[in-house]
Amino acid sequence: MTSSDDRSPAPALAARSVEKQFGQVRALRGVSFEAMAGEVTALIGDNGAGKSTLVKCLSGVHRPDSGTIEVDGQPVHMTSPTDAERMGIETVYQDLALAPDLDAASNVFLGREIRKFRFLHDQPAMRRQTAKSFADLGVGMVQDLRVPVASFSGGQRQSVAIARAAMWAQHVILLDEPTAALGVIQTAKVLDLIRRVRERGLAVVFISHNLPQVLEVADRVEVMRLGARVARFKSGETDVEQLIAAISGAYTNEVAA
Ligand SMILES: Nc1ncnc2c1ncn2[C@@H]1O[C@H](COP(=O)(O)OP(=O)(O)OP(=O)(O)O)[C@@H](O)[C@H]1O
Ligand SMILES: [Mg+2]
Repeated sequence: MTSSDDRSPAPALAARSVEKQFGQVRALRGVSFEAMAGEVTALIGDNGAGKSTLVKCLSGVHRPDSGTIEVDGQPVHMTSPTDAERMGIETVYQDLALAPDLDAASNVFLGREIRKFRFLHDQPAMRRQTAKSFADLGVGMVQDLRVPVASFSGGQRQSVAIARAAMWAQHVILLDEPTAALGVIQTAKVLDLIRRVRERGLAVVFISHNLPQVLEVADRVEVMRLGARVARFKSGETDVEQLIAAISGAYTNEVAA
């Protein structure tokens, strides 16, 4: 998108009429979604609305039954999270995927290890880089990078997963309830981190049930209900009451396709 009269650039990441069924459960019923570069897009909706399933379709974990995923306006076919990572899309899943027996640095570099003499993992180099990016990202709570993350608290583990995603993301970062397990100070740090990632020009997708937090950090809000998008707002043009109305089905501004 280079032409100056192009008023609306293609979304960095989008879903178009995506359907996903698990047995009898229609988790996604033709959901559409858009995340723009340089913006935080909040994705909200009640438990079971389909948010995590949509994230997994956008990050290559699930393959949609129908509909398309687009990156910069181009349809893409992802068959694994590695495909998404190659396109610069990093995800922090709600059901965290850290390797418990590995230390924080090994988790950060899992599958992308720095090697020396071709076969050996260069642990000191990975620890140095991890410590540096944790510091750059304002994640100061992981004191010992040699301890297996199994001994971390839930919030500390979440911080490692977020730092890992922020470190590798080149284009889009998807955060599925990143602050759910965090205390007040760590939550503030994660919200700060989200803003910094946005300033790098990335598209940030942020799922949270905390609506004041959503309005604080997001530029736009997309609301899902029963597997479909029912409303979208600019954050400055809505409030908690209206978001609750959309979540519960009392309000919609989505024109049926
Ligand atoms: N792997 C799966 N197998 C079977 N059903 C699934 C699977 N994943 C999700 N579902 C179902 O799909 C629906 C949507 O679930 P999803 O986890 O996407 O909701 P959510 O919006 O993320 O909810 P929450 O806010 O509780 O995290 C639910 O009915 C859930 O039970
Ligand atoms: Mg979920």
